[in-house]
Amino acid sequence: MTSYTVRKANPEKIRVDVVVAGLVDDGGTPRIAPGGEGIADAYGKSFGPLLSTLGARGKAGEVTKVSTAGTLKSPLLVLVGLGPADRVDTAGVRAAAGAAARAVSNASSVGLALPAADAEHVRAVLEGYRLGGYAFTRYKSSTDTAAPAEVVVLSDAAKTKAVAEAVEAVDPVVRAVALVRDWVNTPPGDLTPPTFAEAVGAVVKETRSKVKVNVLDEKALEAGGYGGLLGVGRGSDSPPRLVELSYRPRGAKAHLALVGKGITYDSGGLSIKPGGSMTTMKMDMAGAASVVAATLAIAELGLPIKVTALAPMAENMISGSATRPGDVLEIYGGKTVEVLNTDAEGRLVLADALVRAAESKPDVIVDVATLTGACMVALGDRIAGLLGNDEELIADVEAAAQRAGERVWPLPIPAEMTEKVRTNSKVADLAQHNAERWGGTLYAAAFLQEFAADQRWAHLDIAGPAYNEKGAYGHVPTGGTGHSVATLIELARSLA
Ligand code: BES
Ligand code: MN
Ligand code: ZN
Repeated sequence: MTSYTVRKANPEKIRVDVVVAGLVDDGGTPRIAPGGEGIADAYGKSFGPLLSTLGARGKAGEVTKVSTAGTLKSPLLVLVGLGPADRVDTAGVRAAAGAAARAVSNASSVGLALPAADAEHVRAVLEGYRLGGYAFTRYKSSTDTAAPAEVVVLSDAAKTKAVAEAVEAVDPVVRAVALVRDWVNTPPGDLTPPTFAEAVGAVVKETRSKVKVNVLDEKALEAGGYGGLLGVGRGSDSPPRLVELSYRPRGAKAHLALVGKGITYDSGGLSIKPGGSMTTMKMDMAGAASVVAATLAIAELGLPIKVTALAPMAENMISGSATRPGDVLEIYGGKTVEVLNTDAEGRLVLADALVRAAESKPDVIVDVATLTGACMVALGDRIAGLLGNDEELIADVEAAAQRAGERVWPLPIPAEMTEKVRTNSKVADLAQHNAERWGGTLYAAAFLQEFAADQRWAHLDIAGPAYNEKGAYGHVPTGGTGHSVATLIELARSLA
């Protein structure tokens, strides 16, 4: 277990295994970032030439290790790049702290002398460091790194109330993000709808959370008429589940409903995916994991807001009982949908859950889903698509994401997509899949919109940022990223 403290101290004088400082790029010249000035002073005139010999530029993501040989009280200095000097923001600090965490993984004590003059920056340093150091090792027989015993964040604002509050809020957020990453990284054979639902109950119990859990199993889903979940789940040996969490604090200011796509594995069903596209599809439950973890964190933080989270869980598999393209499903509440592509399964399970969420007339509904590959074509693998039926809510989600250090970008739901959703099926009320491929993210959102009724609703398509297939960057590790959890918590904070 690592201990984290915030202290006012001089980076050149503290005794730790590694001191970390930021380096900014000041018009082509690397310069030490605020918080680390004492280090440059200790080196004196030799610092500039040393940086130049080491090839350090201060570029974002850059890591330079320097043996201090008595210049500082600590034996090793790690310099992390923050990018252009005039553009250092909390996102940059969060990213640099994340890179630092991976660079010091064998030290037993670490001092972070990054820009941390106020509470927001202290939070970015701590969150970035702790999230960047995440590793999923459950399935490794052995690992060769150990987390440091002691991490000290150096800040002149250490003793202030604002910093104390920021520090207190970090832990629930970091644990929520790590929980999502763990679940996303877990192999799909070990995280089926029934075991996922059980795991949610187990976490609630272990953490003595105030959140109540209610699980609908396949019989309850049948009795309730959840045709979307049942239709998607019927090809699998592991039956679907609908997990419902509720947090009901006293003095709640608002009611937030969260809905998350929980496809524990997406083979595509009979509209089967090519093998190469299937290898990462254990991540198709990231949305469900996010809404569950966010709800637990909101409860832990004691935010005065009612939260209802719905996590529809199913495995999209292929078998003699699988749903066929051409089948018609009756969604919870009665609308009928013609299934035209069994690989567009997410919108079917979300439809059931959205109707259920809208029933309780919350102030706001937000769904999170690894919904469309088209969203990755549009925005790449680091930015989520943000859609919905309410401009003000969309702006609120955007602002929350900004504060949380997660990237989202708005996309429209044009009326002509809604028109297609409503008229493209010759047999059912709605067509699940567009006949043409263009604008797949918009069509999927237009489909979901039909089930949000007249509630204020926003939709995050996290197909890209939920899973990082490449190397770690900033505070984002390889594999499950936990994208959107921090945004949901931040949104709850702003509504409360
Ligand atoms: N889970 C996928 C979307 C996805 C793709 C997430 C790649 C992450 C990375 C979703 O269920 C899916 O298969 N969508 C189809 C929709 C299409 C059939 C309309 C897609 O994007 O190809
Ligand atoms: Mn699919
Ligand atoms: Zn899917």
